[in-house]
Amino acid sequence: MKPLRVNTTYIDKEYRHDLAVLSSHVSEAHAKIKNKTGAGSDFLGWYDLPIKLEASLLERIVKTAERLRKLDVLLVIGIGGSYLGAKAVIEGLNGYFEKSQCEIIFVGHQLSSSYMVELKTYLKDKNFGINVISKSGTTTEPAIAFRVFKQLLEEQVGKKEAKQRIVATTDGARGALRSLADQEGYETFDIADDIGGRYSVLTAVGLLPMAVANVDIYSFVQGMKEAYKAYNIDGHPEVYEYVKARHSLYQKGKKIEIFVYYEPALYFTAEWWKQLFGESEGKDGKGLFVASLGFTTDLHSMGQYIQDGERHLFETVIAIKEPVHDIKIESDRDNLDGLNYLQGLSVNTVNHQAMLGTLLAHSDGGVPSIVIELEKLDAYHLGYLMYFYELSCGISGYVLGVNPFDQPGVEAYKKNMFALLEKPGFEALTETLKKRLK
Ligand code: PA5
Repeated sequence: MKPLRVNTTYIDKEYRHDLAVLSSHVSEAHAKIKNKTGAGSDFLGWYDLPIKLEASLLERIVKTAERLRKLDVLLVIGIGGSYLGAKAVIEGLNGYFEKSQCEIIFVGHQLSSSYMVELKTYLKDKNFGINVISKSGTTTEPAIAFRVFKQLLEEQVGKKEAKQRIVATTDGARGALRSLADQEGYETFDIADDIGGRYSVLTAVGLLPMAVANVDIYSFVQGMKEAYKAYNIDGHPEVYEYVKARHSLYQKGKKIEIFVYYEPALYFTAEWWKQLFGESEGKDGKGLFVASLGFTTDLHSMGQYIQDGERHLFETVIAIKEPVHDIKIESDRDNLDGLNYLQGLSVNTVNHQAMLGTLLAHSDGGVPSIVIELEKLDAYHLGYLMYFYELSCGISGYVLGVNPFDQPGVEAYKKNMFALLEKPGFEALTETLKKRLK
Protein backbone atom coordinates (compact mmCIF):
# COMPACT_ATOMS: atom_id res chain seq x y z
CA MET A 1 0.00 0.00 0.00
CA LYS A 2 1.40 3.42 -0.97
CA PRO A 3 1.75 5.83 1.98
CA LEU A 4 0.23 8.66 -0.11
CA ARG A 5 -2.02 8.88 -3.15
CA VAL A 6 -3.32 11.85 -5.13
CA ASN A 7 -6.91 11.62 -6.32
CA THR A 8 -7.96 14.14 -8.96
CA THR A 9 -11.36 12.68 -9.79
CA TYR A 10 -13.15 15.58 -8.09
CA ILE A 11 -11.84 17.98 -10.74
CA ASP A 12 -14.23 18.40 -13.67
CA LYS A 13 -12.97 18.05 -17.26
CA GLU A 14 -13.24 21.80 -17.93
CA TYR A 15 -10.38 22.44 -15.47
CA ARG A 16 -8.04 19.80 -16.87
CA HIS A 17 -6.36 22.41 -18.97
CA ASP A 18 -3.45 21.39 -21.20
CA LEU A 19 -2.26 18.63 -18.90
CA ALA A 20 0.03 17.26 -21.61
CA VAL A 21 1.79 20.63 -22.00
CA LEU A 22 2.10 20.91 -18.23
CA SER A 23 3.64 17.43 -18.08
CA SER A 24 6.71 18.56 -19.97
CA HIS A 25 7.00 21.77 -17.87
CA VAL A 26 6.80 19.71 -14.70
CA SER A 27 9.49 17.24 -15.71
CA GLU A 28 11.74 20.11 -16.89
CA ALA A 29 11.24 21.84 -13.52
CA HIS A 30 12.07 18.60 -11.71
CA ALA A 31 15.27 18.25 -13.75
CA LYS A 32 16.26 21.81 -12.73
CA ILE A 33 16.02 20.75 -9.09
CA LYS A 34 17.90 17.49 -9.61
CA ASN A 35 20.66 19.17 -11.64
CA LYS A 36 20.70 22.44 -9.66
CA THR A 37 20.25 24.57 -12.77
CA GLY A 38 17.27 26.74 -11.78
CA ALA A 39 16.98 30.08 -9.96
CA GLY A 40 17.97 29.86 -6.29
CA SER A 41 19.85 26.60 -6.81
CA ASP A 42 22.17 27.54 -3.91
CA PHE A 43 19.24 26.65 -1.65
CA LEU A 44 18.65 23.05 -2.68
CA GLY A 45 20.25 21.41 0.36
CA TRP A 46 16.83 20.06 1.43
CA TYR A 47 16.41 18.10 -1.81
CA ASP A 48 18.60 15.07 -1.01
CA LEU A 49 18.96 15.76 2.71
CA PRO A 50 16.85 12.68 3.59
CA ILE A 51 19.59 10.42 2.22
CA LYS A 52 22.47 12.63 3.35
CA LEU A 53 21.51 13.26 6.95
CA GLU A 54 24.37 12.09 9.13
CA ALA A 55 23.70 9.42 11.74
CA SER A 56 26.07 11.23 14.13
CA LEU A 57 23.90 14.38 13.95
CA LEU A 58 20.78 12.38 14.77
CA GLU A 59 22.58 10.78 17.70
CA ARG A 60 23.66 14.17 19.04
CA ILE A 61 20.11 15.52 18.68
CA VAL A 62 18.72 12.54 20.62
CA LYS A 63 21.37 12.95 23.34
CA THR A 64 20.71 16.66 23.75
CA ALA A 65 16.97 16.00 23.74
CA GLU A 66 17.35 13.46 26.55
CA ARG A 67 19.09 16.11 28.64
CA LEU A 68 16.52 18.83 27.89
CA ARG A 69 13.59 16.48 28.46
CA LYS A 70 14.40 16.39 32.17
CA LEU A 71 13.23 20.02 32.41
CA ASP A 72 9.59 20.94 33.06
CA VAL A 73 9.43 23.25 30.04
CA LEU A 74 11.47 23.87 26.89
CA LEU A 75 10.94 27.27 25.30
CA VAL A 76 11.41 27.05 21.55
CA ILE A 77 12.17 30.52 20.25
CA GLY A 78 11.86 31.07 16.49
CA ILE A 79 9.58 32.40 13.76
CA GLY A 80 8.49 31.31 10.25
CA GLY A 81 10.54 28.37 9.05
CA SER A 82 12.37 28.38 12.37
CA TYR A 83 9.26 27.22 14.25
CA LEU A 84 6.47 25.98 11.99
CA GLY A 85 7.94 22.59 11.04
CA ALA A 86 8.53 21.50 14.64
CA LYS A 87 5.18 22.92 15.75
CA ALA A 88 3.35 21.09 12.92
CA VAL A 89 4.90 17.73 13.72
CA ILE A 90 4.56 17.99 17.50
CA GLU A 91 0.91 19.11 17.31
CA GLY A 92 0.20 16.57 14.58
CA LEU A 93 1.50 13.58 16.51
CA ASN A 94 1.41 14.17 20.23
CA GLY A 95 -2.28 13.68 20.96
CA TYR A 96 -4.95 16.14 21.99
CA PHE A 97 -4.85 15.82 25.76
CA GLU A 98 -1.62 14.03 26.53
CA LYS A 99 0.89 15.91 28.64
CA SER A 100 4.47 15.33 27.59
CA GLN A 101 7.22 14.88 30.16
CA CYS A 102 8.72 18.21 29.11
CA GLU A 103 6.21 20.78 27.91
CA ILE A 104 7.20 22.56 24.69
CA ILE A 105 6.18 26.22 24.54
CA PHE A 106 6.82 28.33 21.45
CA VAL A 107 7.63 32.02 21.78
CA GLY A 108 9.26 34.63 19.55
CA HIS A 109 6.86 33.86 16.69
CA GLN A 110 4.97 37.13 17.26
CA LEU A 111 5.39 40.34 19.24
CA SER A 112 2.56 40.04 21.76
CA SER A 113 3.64 41.66 25.04
CA SER A 114 0.71 40.01 26.84
CA TYR A 115 1.86 36.56 25.71
CA MET A 116 5.37 37.25 27.02
CA VAL A 117 4.25 38.59 30.39
CA GLU A 118 1.84 35.68 30.94
CA LEU A 119 4.56 33.22 29.92
CA LYS A 120 6.97 34.82 32.40
CA THR A 121 4.40 34.32 35.15
CA TYR A 122 3.75 30.72 34.04
CA LEU A 123 7.48 29.93 34.21
CA LYS A 124 7.91 31.30 37.74
CA ASP A 125 8.15 27.96 39.57
CA LYS A 126 9.21 25.86 36.60
CA ASN A 127 12.54 24.41 35.62
CA PHE A 128 12.90 25.60 32.07
CA GLY A 129 15.42 25.68 29.24
CA ILE A 130 15.63 27.36 25.84
CA ASN A 131 16.20 26.25 22.27
CA VAL A 132 16.68 29.49 20.34
CA ILE A 133 16.46 29.02 16.57
CA SER A 134 17.34 31.60 13.94
CA LYS A 135 19.26 30.94 10.75
CA SER A 136 20.17 34.58 10.18
CA GLY A 137 20.59 35.12 13.91
CA THR A 138 19.24 38.63 13.52
CA THR A 139 15.43 38.27 13.24
CA THR A 140 13.78 40.79 15.57
CA GLU A 141 10.92 38.73 17.03
CA PRO A 142 13.01 35.78 18.29
CA ALA A 143 15.90 38.09 19.27
CA ILE A 144 13.62 40.08 21.60
CA ALA A 145 12.10 36.91 23.08
CA PHE A 146 15.55 35.44 23.64
CA ARG A 147 16.72 38.55 25.45
CA VAL A 148 13.66 38.48 27.74
CA PHE A 149 13.71 34.75 28.57
CA LYS A 150 17.49 34.43 28.77
CA GLN A 151 17.41 37.15 31.44
CA LEU A 152 14.60 35.36 33.27
CA LEU A 153 16.48 32.06 33.17
CA GLU A 154 19.66 33.67 34.47
CA GLU A 155 17.71 35.30 37.31
CA GLN A 156 16.10 31.96 38.20
CA VAL A 157 19.10 29.62 38.06
CA GLY A 158 22.20 31.81 37.71
CA LYS A 159 24.38 32.47 34.67
CA LYS A 160 26.38 29.25 34.89
CA GLU A 161 23.39 26.88 35.01
CA ALA A 162 21.54 28.95 32.36
CA LYS A 163 24.36 28.26 29.91
CA GLN A 164 23.78 24.52 30.34
CA ARG A 165 20.08 24.94 29.57
CA ILE A 166 20.35 27.01 26.40
CA VAL A 167 20.86 25.44 22.98
CA ALA A 168 21.21 27.66 19.90
CA THR A 169 20.38 26.48 16.36
CA THR A 170 21.83 28.93 13.86
CA ASP A 171 24.26 29.60 11.02
CA GLY A 172 27.65 27.93 11.46
CA ALA A 173 29.63 31.16 11.14
CA ARG A 174 27.53 34.31 10.75
CA GLY A 175 24.98 36.37 12.65
CA ALA A 176 24.50 37.89 16.09
CA LEU A 177 23.14 34.65 17.58
CA ARG A 178 26.22 32.71 16.42
CA SER A 179 28.60 35.23 18.08
CA LEU A 180 26.50 35.37 21.24
CA ALA A 181 26.32 31.56 21.47
CA ASP A 182 30.08 31.19 20.92
CA GLN A 183 30.84 33.85 23.48
CA GLU A 184 28.52 32.35 26.10
CA GLY A 185 29.58 28.77 25.33
CA TYR A 186 26.11 27.38 24.54
CA GLU A 187 25.69 24.06 22.80
CA THR A 188 24.92 24.82 19.15
CA PHE A 189 23.55 23.11 16.05
CA ASP A 190 24.45 24.54 12.64
CA ILE A 191 21.95 25.27 9.87
CA ALA A 192 23.55 24.63 6.49
CA ASP A 193 23.94 27.58 4.10
CA ASP A 194 21.97 25.83 1.37
CA ILE A 195 18.78 25.19 3.38
CA GLY A 196 16.25 28.01 3.74
CA GLY A 197 13.95 28.33 6.76
CA ARG A 198 10.78 26.87 5.28
CA TYR A 199 12.66 23.82 3.95
CA SER A 200 14.48 23.16 7.25
CA VAL A 201 12.16 20.75 9.07
CA LEU A 202 14.63 17.89 8.57
CA THR A 203 17.52 19.79 10.21
CA ALA A 204 18.08 20.40 13.93
CA VAL A 205 15.63 23.31 13.51
CA GLY A 206 12.76 20.81 13.41
CA LEU A 207 14.31 17.65 14.80
CA LEU A 208 15.58 18.87 18.17
CA PRO A 209 12.23 20.23 19.47
CA MET A 210 10.51 17.14 18.03
CA ALA A 211 12.92 14.82 19.83
CA VAL A 212 12.41 16.68 23.14
CA ALA A 213 8.66 16.21 22.61
CA ASN A 214 9.25 12.46 22.22
CA VAL A 215 8.46 12.31 18.51
CA ASP A 216 10.09 9.26 16.88
CA ILE A 217 12.49 11.26 14.72
CA TYR A 218 14.00 8.13 13.17
CA SER A 219 10.59 7.21 11.68
CA PHE A 220 10.11 10.81 10.55
CA VAL A 221 13.47 10.71 8.74
CA GLN A 222 12.57 7.32 7.24
CA GLY A 223 9.30 8.73 5.86
CA MET A 224 11.18 11.61 4.24
CA LYS A 225 13.79 9.21 2.87
CA GLU A 226 11.21 6.94 1.26
CA ALA A 227 9.36 9.88 -0.26
CA TYR A 228 12.69 11.13 -1.68
CA LYS A 229 13.24 7.71 -3.26
CA ALA A 230 9.66 7.31 -4.52
CA TYR A 231 9.55 10.68 -6.28
CA ASN A 232 13.14 11.20 -7.42
CA ILE A 233 14.33 7.69 -8.18
CA ASP A 234 11.39 5.32 -8.61
CA GLY A 235 9.32 7.81 -10.63
CA HIS A 236 6.08 7.62 -8.62
CA PRO A 237 3.66 10.08 -10.20
CA GLU A 238 2.00 11.75 -7.16
CA VAL A 239 4.11 14.93 -7.03
CA TYR A 240 3.60 15.54 -10.75
CA GLU A 241 -0.14 14.86 -10.43
CA TYR A 242 -0.50 17.42 -7.64
CA VAL A 243 1.62 20.08 -9.35
CA LYS A 244 -0.17 19.65 -12.68
CA ALA A 245 -3.62 19.74 -11.12
CA ARG A 246 -3.03 22.95 -9.14
CA HIS A 247 -1.43 24.72 -12.11
CA SER A 248 -4.22 23.69 -14.39
CA LEU A 249 -6.75 25.08 -11.92
CA TYR A 250 -4.72 28.29 -11.48
CA GLN A 251 -4.65 28.83 -15.23
CA LYS A 252 -8.43 28.41 -15.32
CA GLY A 253 -8.92 31.25 -12.81
CA LYS A 254 -8.94 29.32 -9.55
CA LYS A 255 -6.60 31.67 -7.71
CA ILE A 256 -7.07 30.40 -4.16
CA GLU A 257 -6.04 26.98 -2.91
CA ILE A 258 -7.56 25.92 0.41
CA PHE A 259 -5.78 23.20 2.39
CA VAL A 260 -8.64 21.28 4.00
CA TYR A 261 -8.21 18.81 6.85
CA TYR A 262 -10.73 16.71 8.76
CA GLU A 263 -8.36 15.99 11.67
CA PRO A 264 -7.76 19.06 13.88
CA ALA A 265 -4.25 17.81 14.74
CA LEU A 266 -3.31 18.99 11.23
CA TYR A 267 -3.96 22.66 12.07
CA PHE A 268 -0.25 23.49 12.19
CA THR A 269 0.61 21.23 9.25
CA ALA A 270 -1.65 23.58 7.31
CA GLU A 271 0.21 26.60 8.75
CA TRP A 272 3.53 25.05 7.75
CA TRP A 273 2.17 24.29 4.24
CA LYS A 274 0.90 27.88 3.85
CA GLN A 275 4.33 29.29 4.65
CA LEU A 276 6.01 26.82 2.30
CA PHE A 277 3.83 27.62 -0.70
CA GLY A 278 2.94 31.24 0.08
CA GLU A 279 6.53 32.36 0.60
CA SER A 280 7.87 30.23 -2.25
CA GLU A 281 5.38 31.11 -4.98
CA GLY A 282 3.85 34.48 -4.12
CA LYS A 283 6.12 36.81 -6.05
CA ASP A 284 6.52 38.73 -9.31
CA GLY A 285 2.75 39.37 -9.29
CA LYS A 286 2.03 35.64 -9.48
CA GLY A 287 1.05 32.67 -7.35
CA LEU A 288 -1.93 30.98 -5.77
CA PHE A 289 -3.15 32.54 -2.54
CA VAL A 290 -2.97 29.69 -0.04
CA ALA A 291 -5.48 29.35 2.78
CA SER A 292 -6.57 26.60 5.15
CA LEU A 293 -9.76 25.37 6.81
CA GLY A 294 -10.59 22.60 9.27
CA PHE A 295 -13.73 20.61 8.43
CA THR A 296 -16.34 19.87 9.53
CA THR A 297 -15.88 22.81 11.96
CA ASP A 298 -15.46 25.42 9.23
CA LEU A 299 -18.29 24.00 7.13
CA HIS A 300 -20.46 25.74 9.73
CA SER A 301 -18.80 29.08 9.00
CA MET A 302 -16.82 29.39 5.76
CA GLY A 303 -18.78 26.48 4.23
CA GLN A 304 -21.37 28.97 3.01
CA TYR A 305 -18.78 31.02 1.10
CA ILE A 306 -17.20 27.94 -0.42
CA GLN A 307 -20.52 26.59 -1.66
CA ASP A 308 -21.96 29.88 -2.94
CA GLY A 309 -19.45 32.74 -2.87
CA GLU A 310 -17.04 33.98 -5.52
CA ARG A 311 -15.87 31.11 -7.75
CA HIS A 312 -12.11 31.55 -7.49
CA LEU A 313 -11.41 28.62 -5.17
CA PHE A 314 -10.26 25.06 -5.20
CA GLU A 315 -9.51 22.74 -2.32
CA THR A 316 -6.71 20.31 -1.54
CA VAL A 317 -8.16 17.89 0.95
CA ILE A 318 -6.00 15.76 3.23
CA ALA A 319 -7.83 12.51 3.85
CA ILE A 320 -6.31 10.30 6.54
CA LYS A 321 -7.40 6.72 5.94
CA GLU A 322 -6.81 5.26 9.38
CA PRO A 323 -7.50 7.48 12.41
CA VAL A 324 -5.31 7.13 15.49
CA HIS A 325 -8.41 6.19 17.52
CA ASP A 326 -12.02 5.47 16.62
CA ILE A 327 -15.24 5.23 18.61
CA LYS A 328 -18.47 3.37 17.88
CA ILE A 329 -21.88 5.02 18.14
CA GLU A 330 -24.03 2.82 20.37
CA SER A 331 -27.77 2.24 20.15
CA ASP A 332 -30.05 4.11 22.59
CA ARG A 333 -33.31 2.55 23.80
CA ASP A 334 -35.35 5.78 23.67
CA ASN A 335 -33.66 7.25 20.57
CA LEU A 336 -34.80 10.74 21.63
CA ASP A 337 -31.99 12.31 19.61
CA GLY A 338 -33.02 10.31 16.51
CA LEU A 339 -29.50 9.01 16.01
CA ASN A 340 -30.22 5.28 16.07
CA TYR A 341 -29.82 5.18 12.30
CA LEU A 342 -26.10 5.60 13.02
CA GLN A 343 -25.84 2.78 15.57
CA GLY A 344 -22.86 0.53 15.00
CA LEU A 345 -21.09 3.07 12.81
CA SER A 346 -17.89 4.72 14.00
CA VAL A 347 -17.39 8.47 14.37
CA ASN A 348 -14.61 8.22 11.80
CA THR A 349 -17.06 6.69 9.31
CA VAL A 350 -19.36 9.67 9.85
CA ASN A 351 -16.37 12.02 9.32
CA HIS A 352 -15.51 10.14 6.11
CA GLN A 353 -19.06 10.36 4.76
CA ALA A 354 -19.08 14.07 5.62
CA MET A 355 -15.94 14.43 3.52
CA LEU A 356 -17.39 12.54 0.55
CA GLY A 357 -20.64 14.52 0.73
CA THR A 358 -18.69 17.78 0.89
CA LEU A 359 -16.47 16.85 -2.06
CA LEU A 360 -19.56 16.27 -4.20
CA ALA A 361 -21.39 19.38 -2.95
CA HIS A 362 -18.38 21.63 -3.53
CA SER A 363 -17.77 20.11 -6.94
CA ASP A 364 -21.44 20.83 -7.83
CA GLY A 365 -20.91 24.39 -6.57
CA GLY A 366 -17.93 24.93 -8.90
CA VAL A 367 -15.18 24.26 -6.36
CA PRO A 368 -12.97 21.40 -7.56
CA SER A 369 -10.87 19.34 -5.13
CA ILE A 370 -7.59 17.51 -5.21
CA VAL A 371 -7.62 14.76 -2.57
CA ILE A 372 -4.36 13.71 -0.93
CA GLU A 373 -4.95 10.36 0.72
CA LEU A 374 -2.54 9.62 3.54
CA GLU A 375 -2.56 6.09 4.99
CA LYS A 376 -2.27 7.26 8.62
CA LEU A 377 -1.01 10.06 10.84
CA ASP A 378 2.27 8.96 12.42
CA ALA A 379 5.88 10.18 12.28
CA TYR A 380 6.68 8.15 9.17
CA HIS A 381 3.65 9.35 7.17
CA LEU A 382 4.02 12.96 8.27
CA GLY A 383 7.67 12.89 7.15
CA TYR A 384 6.56 11.37 3.85
CA LEU A 385 3.87 14.05 3.38
CA MET A 386 6.25 16.90 4.22
CA TYR A 387 8.83 15.76 1.67
CA PHE A 388 6.04 15.33 -0.90
CA TYR A 389 5.12 18.99 -0.31
CA GLU A 390 8.69 20.31 -0.32
CA LEU A 391 9.41 18.70 -3.67
CA SER A 392 6.01 19.71 -5.08
CA CYS A 393 6.67 23.28 -3.99
CA GLY A 394 10.12 23.51 -5.59
CA ILE A 395 8.83 22.03 -8.86
CA SER A 396 5.69 24.14 -8.79
CA GLY A 397 7.65 27.37 -8.30
CA TYR A 398 9.75 26.64 -11.37
CA VAL A 399 6.65 25.77 -13.43
CA LEU A 400 5.20 29.14 -12.39
CA GLY A 401 8.44 30.84 -13.42
CA VAL A 402 9.55 32.17 -10.02
CA ASN A 403 12.47 31.48 -7.70
CA PRO A 404 10.87 29.27 -5.04
CA PHE A 405 13.77 29.65 -2.63
CA ASP A 406 13.94 33.37 -1.90
CA GLN A 407 11.57 35.74 -0.06
CA PRO A 408 12.43 39.33 -1.07
CA GLY A 409 8.94 40.56 -0.17
CA VAL A 410 9.42 39.77 3.52
CA GLU A 411 11.95 42.62 3.83
CA ALA A 412 9.46 45.46 3.16
CA TYR A 413 7.72 45.38 6.55
CA LYS A 414 11.03 44.87 8.36
CA LYS A 415 12.58 48.00 6.82
CA ASN A 416 9.56 50.08 7.81
CA MET A 417 9.49 48.64 11.32
CA PHE A 418 13.20 49.37 11.83
CA ALA A 419 12.74 52.91 10.51
CA LEU A 420 9.76 53.54 12.80
CA LEU A 421 11.75 52.16 15.76
CA GLU A 422 14.56 54.58 14.78
CA LYS A 423 17.17 51.87 14.30
CA PRO A 424 20.53 53.47 13.41
CA GLY A 425 21.05 53.46 9.64
CA PHE A 426 17.38 54.03 8.76
CA GLU A 427 17.22 57.82 9.41
CA ALA A 428 16.02 58.90 5.95
CA LEU A 429 13.24 56.32 5.84
CA THR A 430 12.23 57.21 9.42
CA GLU A 431 11.59 60.78 8.33
CA THR A 432 9.60 59.77 5.20
CA LEU A 433 7.43 57.26 7.06
CA LYS A 434 6.72 59.57 9.98
CA LYS A 435 5.44 62.21 7.56
CA ARG A 436 3.15 59.63 5.94
CA LEU A 437 1.72 58.59 9.29
CA LYS A 438 0.70 62.12 10.34
O1 PA5 B 1 11.45 30.59 5.25
C1 PA5 B 1 12.13 31.52 5.66
O2 PA5 B 1 13.29 31.72 5.23
C2 PA5 B 1 11.63 32.46 6.73
O3 PA5 B 1 10.33 32.20 7.08
C3 PA5 B 1 12.50 32.35 7.98
O4 PA5 B 1 12.46 31.04 8.45
C4 PA5 B 1 12.04 33.32 9.07
O5 PA5 B 1 11.98 34.63 8.58
C5 PA5 B 1 12.98 33.26 10.26
O6 PA5 B 1 14.28 33.55 9.87
P1 PA5 B 1 15.52 33.23 10.79
O7 PA5 B 1 15.59 31.76 10.97
O8 PA5 B 1 16.69 33.77 10.06
O9 PA5 B 1 15.29 33.94 12.11
